[in-house]
Amino acid sequence: MKSIKRRNFIKTAVLGSLASVFATKTHANMVTPTDAQGPFYPITPQKDKDADLTHVKGRSGTAKGQIIEIYGQVLDQDMNPIEDVTIDLWQANTFGKYHHPHDDSEAPIDENFQSWAILQSGKHGKFRFKTVMPGAYPLHSSDQRTPHIHFKVTKYGYESLLTQLYFPDQALNKTDGLYNRKNKDQQALMTAKKTKMDNVLHYDIILAKV
Ligand SMILES: [Fe+2]
Repeated sequence: MKSIKRRNFIKTAVLGSLASVFATKTHANMVTPTDAQGPFYPITPQKDKDADLTHVKGRSGTAKGQIIEIYGQVLDQDMNPIEDVTIDLWQANTFGKYHHPHDDSEAPIDENFQSWAILQSGKHGKFRFKTVMPGAYPLHSSDQRTPHIHFKVTKYGYESLLTQLYFPDQALNKTDGLYNRKNKDQQALMTAKKTKMDNVLHYDIILAKV
């Protein structure tokens, strides 16, 4: 009886580890999925597009909302870092309002929120930025977009990527139309991961070679 139990235990352990190897490999071969650009890519010229979206150069105030930091790496499908990638990102402010003339929602504008950044991945493909948690915003009368950040990621020799970063533990992730078009593996690649530090999230971007 004991040896049967032991055999079952070994079988389960071996199958379990094979499954995790398979999952890692499958994951490693996936690129960050594409997502809709949405209607609010910035069109108003803006000088300050640095990695701190909580301050606008020339203004003394700080953006309203929950301040968060997001860090990660840009990688190829073999998990090699890619340096000098252009990471263009834009998002709604804490009230769910875009700094865009076509956003006619009644949510307030926050003049101290930078809302748009253009970064380069540095050594080992790393990047980091500071921002505020984007607010949800209404899409149709009953629907709300779950909090997200838009990304346009480009580098010569790689497929350009238009995508959206999502946040863990958001109730609206369950009902968001765009998020729920993706399968679980895709959602995992598109959702920033919590870290040991409060308000610090980890998000890697995987690009396909042309
Ligand atoms: Fe959006």
